[in-house]
Amino acid sequence: MDIAATDQLLSTTRAVRRRLDLERPVERDVILECLRLAVQAPTGGNKQAWRWLVVDDPEVRANVADIYARQTLAVIDRRYPHIKDPQTRRVYDSARYLATVLAQVPVLIVPCVQGRLDEPNATHPAAFYGSIFPAIWNLQLALRSRRMGSVLTTPFVGDDERRYTEVLRLPDTMTPVALLPVAYTIGDEFKPAKRPPVETITRWNRWTD
Ligand SMILES: Cc1cc2nc3c(=O)[nH]c(=O)nc-3n(C[C@H](O)[C@H](O)[C@H](O)COP(=O)(O)O)c2cc1C
Repeated sequence: MDIAATDQLLSTTRAVRRRLDLERPVERDVILECLRLAVQAPTGGNKQAWRWLVVDDPEVRANVADIYARQTLAVIDRRYPHIKDPQTRRVYDSARYLATVLAQVPVLIVPCVQGRLDEPNATHPAAFYGSIFPAIWNLQLALRSRRMGSVLTTPFVGDDERRYTEVLRLPDTMTPVALLPVAYTIGDEFKPAKRPPVETITRWNRWTD
C-alpha cells in the first residue's frame, strides 16, 4: 500500500464546485469504474440496497438544475445576510455558483437507497443512511484519484423531493439520498482543509470534561 498516495487522496478530496470543468465530457466507462469501487463499501446487514442513477442527458440535467437552482438560491438568499464567518461565506458563494451552472456539469449522480424510512420494518435511520454514505465517499475518492471532482449535496428535502423524483422517474419505493455533480477538475492541486487538532476533540476511555 502506498501510504503517501493514500494519505494525499484522503486529505485532498474536497467539495469541488468552482473548479468543475464544464467543457470536458466525462466518459460512462470511468463512472462505472468508480461505481465498482463505491460498492466495495460496507452496508448494514450486507443489504447492499444502494442504487445509482447517473444523469448525463442534457435535458434531464437541465430539469434537475432548474429545481436545484430555485431551491438552493432561495435558501442562500435567505441565510446569506446573517453569515459573518468569511469561510462560511465562501462556501455559500461557491454553492451559489454551483446552482447557476449545474445544468452544464457533465454528470450528476444520485445515490439512492431501495426502500423508505417510513415503511413498516424499515431499518434504523443510522443503518439506512449509514449504508449509503460510505459508498458515496468511496465514489468521491475514486473520482478524485481519476482527476475528477464532486460535491455531496443533499437537496431531496420537503416538497422538493417529489419534484426531483418526477423528473428522474424514481419509484416511490426508492429514497434519493444525495446529488453529486461530477466533472474533471480544473487543475489538480487541492490542499488539506484546516481542521481542529484531533487531540482537542478526542478523549480516551471516558469523556473527561
Ligand atoms: C451530509 C452533507 C451534506 C452536504 N450538503 C451540501 C449541499 O447541500 N450543498 C453543497 O454545496 N455542499 C454540501 N455539502 C458539502 C459541504 O459543504 C462541504 O463538505 C464542507 O463545506 C467542507 O468542505 P470540504 O469537503 O472541501 O472540506 C455537504 C456535505 C455533507 C457531508
